[in-house]
Amino acid sequence: MQQEIAQPTLKWPAEGNARVPYRMFSDPEVYRAELTRIFLGPTWQYLALAGELPQAGDYLTTFLGETPVIVTRGHDGEIHAMLNRCAHRGNLVCLKRRGHADNLTCVYHAWRYDLEGNLDSVAFRRGIAGKGGMPASFRLEEHGLKKLRVDTFGDLVFGTLSPEAPPLASYIGNLIGSRIHRVMHGKPKILGTTSQILHNNWKLYFENVRDTYHATLLHAFFTTFRISRLTSEGGVDIAENGAHHASYTRNKIDRVDQATSDQLYAGIPSLRENFRLADPSFLPMAEEFGDDTTTQILSLFPNFVLQQIQNSIALRLVLPKGPDKTELQWTYIGFEEDDADMTALRLASSARSTAPRRSARCSKWAVSGMSPKPTGRPRLRSAASGTPIDH
Ligand code: FES
Ligand SMILES: [Fe+2]
Repeated sequence: MQQEIAQPTLKWPAEGNARVPYRMFSDPEVYRAELTRIFLGPTWQYLALAGELPQAGDYLTTFLGETPVIVTRGHDGEIHAMLNRCAHRGNLVCLKRRGHADNLTCVYHAWRYDLEGNLDSVAFRRGIAGKGGMPASFRLEEHGLKKLRVDTFGDLVFGTLSPEAPPLASYIGNLIGSRIHRVMHGKPKILGTTSQILHNNWKLYFENVRDTYHATLLHAFFTTFRISRLTSEGGVDIAENGAHHASYTRNKIDRVDQATSDQLYAGIPSLRENFRLADPSFLPMAEEFGDDTTTQILSLFPNFVLQQIQNSIALRLVLPKGPDKTELQWTYIGFEEDDADMTALRLASSARSTAPRRSARCSKWAVSGMSPKPTGRPRLRSAASGTPIDH
């Protein structure tokens, strides 16, 4: 498989990992290899919140890359996941985004599976009046839906098709795991969901999440209203295995005085115009995490993002839909123990964090910028020093 990517069309630049050929973001061959090697390979991918499936028989559908998946709460009380692909002729078994059922029945020829994906019955298995039907050697247990390994990290449910993926906890690692726990400190309650289609390669968005350089330059709202700046305290944690990251801002701790910070940002358009909010109460943040961290953006390879921007907490799932198409799904959450004021604060904070759309647009512009010269000078990877955040 390595050979397929490397030869003969893609030659990696001599500079090594500091340069990425533009073709990596558009080549259908590379994309197909990613679907197999990354999304069906030894990675754990976010499937759902456990609380989305409270009752036995609850199910939802999602994807591993482009491969459709069903996630269920079984009669055993456990969460199960399996490919949404009938063992008969590959039809989708569950057609809806979510639902409740006692079993999973394929609409095409009515093969019926239990909530764990085991084949329960086949219509006309014995034929009619001694004619037709499945051969005597047919075994139901050999024709179930292909099952995923499922594991949970707190209330986050992940799945993989690979027997080689390490246990989820060691895949995530202690450093990033503790940063997930600091945000997911209660029983999650979904406040809202949305999704958007990005007309670009999935890696552009996922890379953008880890791009600490753009955040306070592109998202001028945060800079202007001093929610986060590079002059604040902060840093980036990288997982022990190098696959995941968490960038954070401790905005209450400035490394330089306000005038110096303003001077450093003097070239940013919104600061030049000296915007200020007439009502600063628009920007309150409740002390929730006990560590002065106003923003933390965390990514788990290959396609999950956990956002904490002030009191706005969101899960983002990046689903590839082709070499140049991506679906970005957002789930905004609070916690069961939140009171009405806290919920209102989270909603207001989440409304402000519609700023992420700007990053999404920017990665579209990146595609436009790259498209006339897919074989031109490789893309330069860069990072800012100082406090990194992304939105
Ligand atoms: S394809 Fe599902 S029962 Fe035939
Ligand atoms: Fe961003």
